[in-house]
Amino acid sequence: MSVQSVFLASNRNGINILAKRASSWWSNVAMGPPDAILGVTEAFKRETNPKKINLGVGAYRDDNGKPYVLPSVREAEERLRKKNLDKEYLPISGTPDFSKLSIKLALGDNSPHVANGLNATVQGISGTGSLRIGAAFLKAFYPGVQTVYLPTPTWGNHIPIFKHAGLDVKHYKFYDPNTCGFDYKGAMDDINSIPEKSIILLHACAHNPTGVDPSMEQWKELSHLIKKKNLFPFFDMAYQGFASGCIDKDAQAVRYFLDEGHEIALSQSFAKNMGLYGERAGAFTITCKDKEEAARVMSQIKILIRPMYSNPPLHGARIVTEILGDQSLRNQWLEEVKGMADRIISVRTQLRDNLKKQGSSRDWSHITNQIGMFCFTGMKPDQVERITKEFSVFLTKDGRISMAGVTSKNVEYLAEAMHQVTKG
Ligand SMILES: Cc1ncc(COP(=O)(O)O)c(C=O)c1O
Repeated sequence: MSVQSVFLASNRNGINILAKRASSWWSNVAMGPPDAILGVTEAFKRETNPKKINLGVGAYRDDNGKPYVLPSVREAEERLRKKNLDKEYLPISGTPDFSKLSIKLALGDNSPHVANGLNATVQGISGTGSLRIGAAFLKAFYPGVQTVYLPTPTWGNHIPIFKHAGLDVKHYKFYDPNTCGFDYKGAMDDINSIPEKSIILLHACAHNPTGVDPSMEQWKELSHLIKKKNLFPFFDMAYQGFASGCIDKDAQAVRYFLDEGHEIALSQSFAKNMGLYGERAGAFTITCKDKEEAARVMSQIKILIRPMYSNPPLHGARIVTEILGDQSLRNQWLEEVKGMADRIISVRTQLRDNLKKQGSSRDWSHITNQIGMFCFTGMKPDQVERITKEFSVFLTKDGRISMAGVTSKNVEYLAEAMHQVTKG
């Protein structure tokens, strides 16, 4: 009798099934560490101090600290409800309208790549799923060096996403802790020594976790060097519109690289810019030399997706399609994205001003120089520990704070706490 059938038989007879087994299949599974970011939220929930602030979470909050569903999203859902749509499966590559509207949002309405059908674009499971499709495609088909170079630091999930797909992961300098800004020289030197034909990951805008982006002039130099070294650029665009408030400005680097003749991979997410976190709407694109190549690439991406999750979810993609496909709803959404970005830009100034008011003599200009959802404060691990212990301000150990958790109501308290742990 097999182990499984002993298990079933004893279960039926009501005998103690555990006693019948010598060991479990899973006795060698070690307890894994908690997720670095979700662990912060758990600790925050346990805290009883009414002044507590959670700056760990990477999701937008309004000025009352509440989650925000965009009115354009509500309106799109209302329209969808009235259409009484069915719940049939989507194709493996998702909704064609969604893919077209997504790539046009990234590359611009007048993109020659879209006009000439040079893009193989599929709907992915938000940004993470889109990156994972890209990683799988590169592992299967990339003819160069199968190593992805990531900026230091980078979004924590990048490393396992590429490793799980079987690619090697290495790093290039990006952040300078002395200036709390972009380490332009360090990045250029490191990229210059990356073996030719490797893959390089670039955050299109609003770099996570540092909030530090290259200037347009620096992007141009990066493009030039990446082309000279014959590297393959993979852009992760999780914050289009969320950084500056303008979707076109935030897509400048991606569009410039294409204008310069690079072929690229691109992942897009609608989690932040449409507030569709849990709806998992995103897109993955490979740009190609002609339409026929794009069709071949597309066919292989579909073959990779089929055994991973068969086809993507409906609802989020329908919301995005409804918003981007209707001029007035799209305009409303653009205003709302700008509203979110502007609030973040405004609390950056408020935080810096309040630190000054507290009497801090430190240079906090990086708070307003950095962009997007996160600020890399420069607080050291012992200062992070103190600010959590003594002031109930919760953040990740690297000193990153989510600006979305800062409001006009808690900014003064936060500044006081930051000043107390960083002075002297
Ligand atoms: C840089 C970066 N890439 C990708 C993502 C993916 O997010 P999602 O899978 O929720 O779209 C995030 C989310 O925090 C991110 O910061």
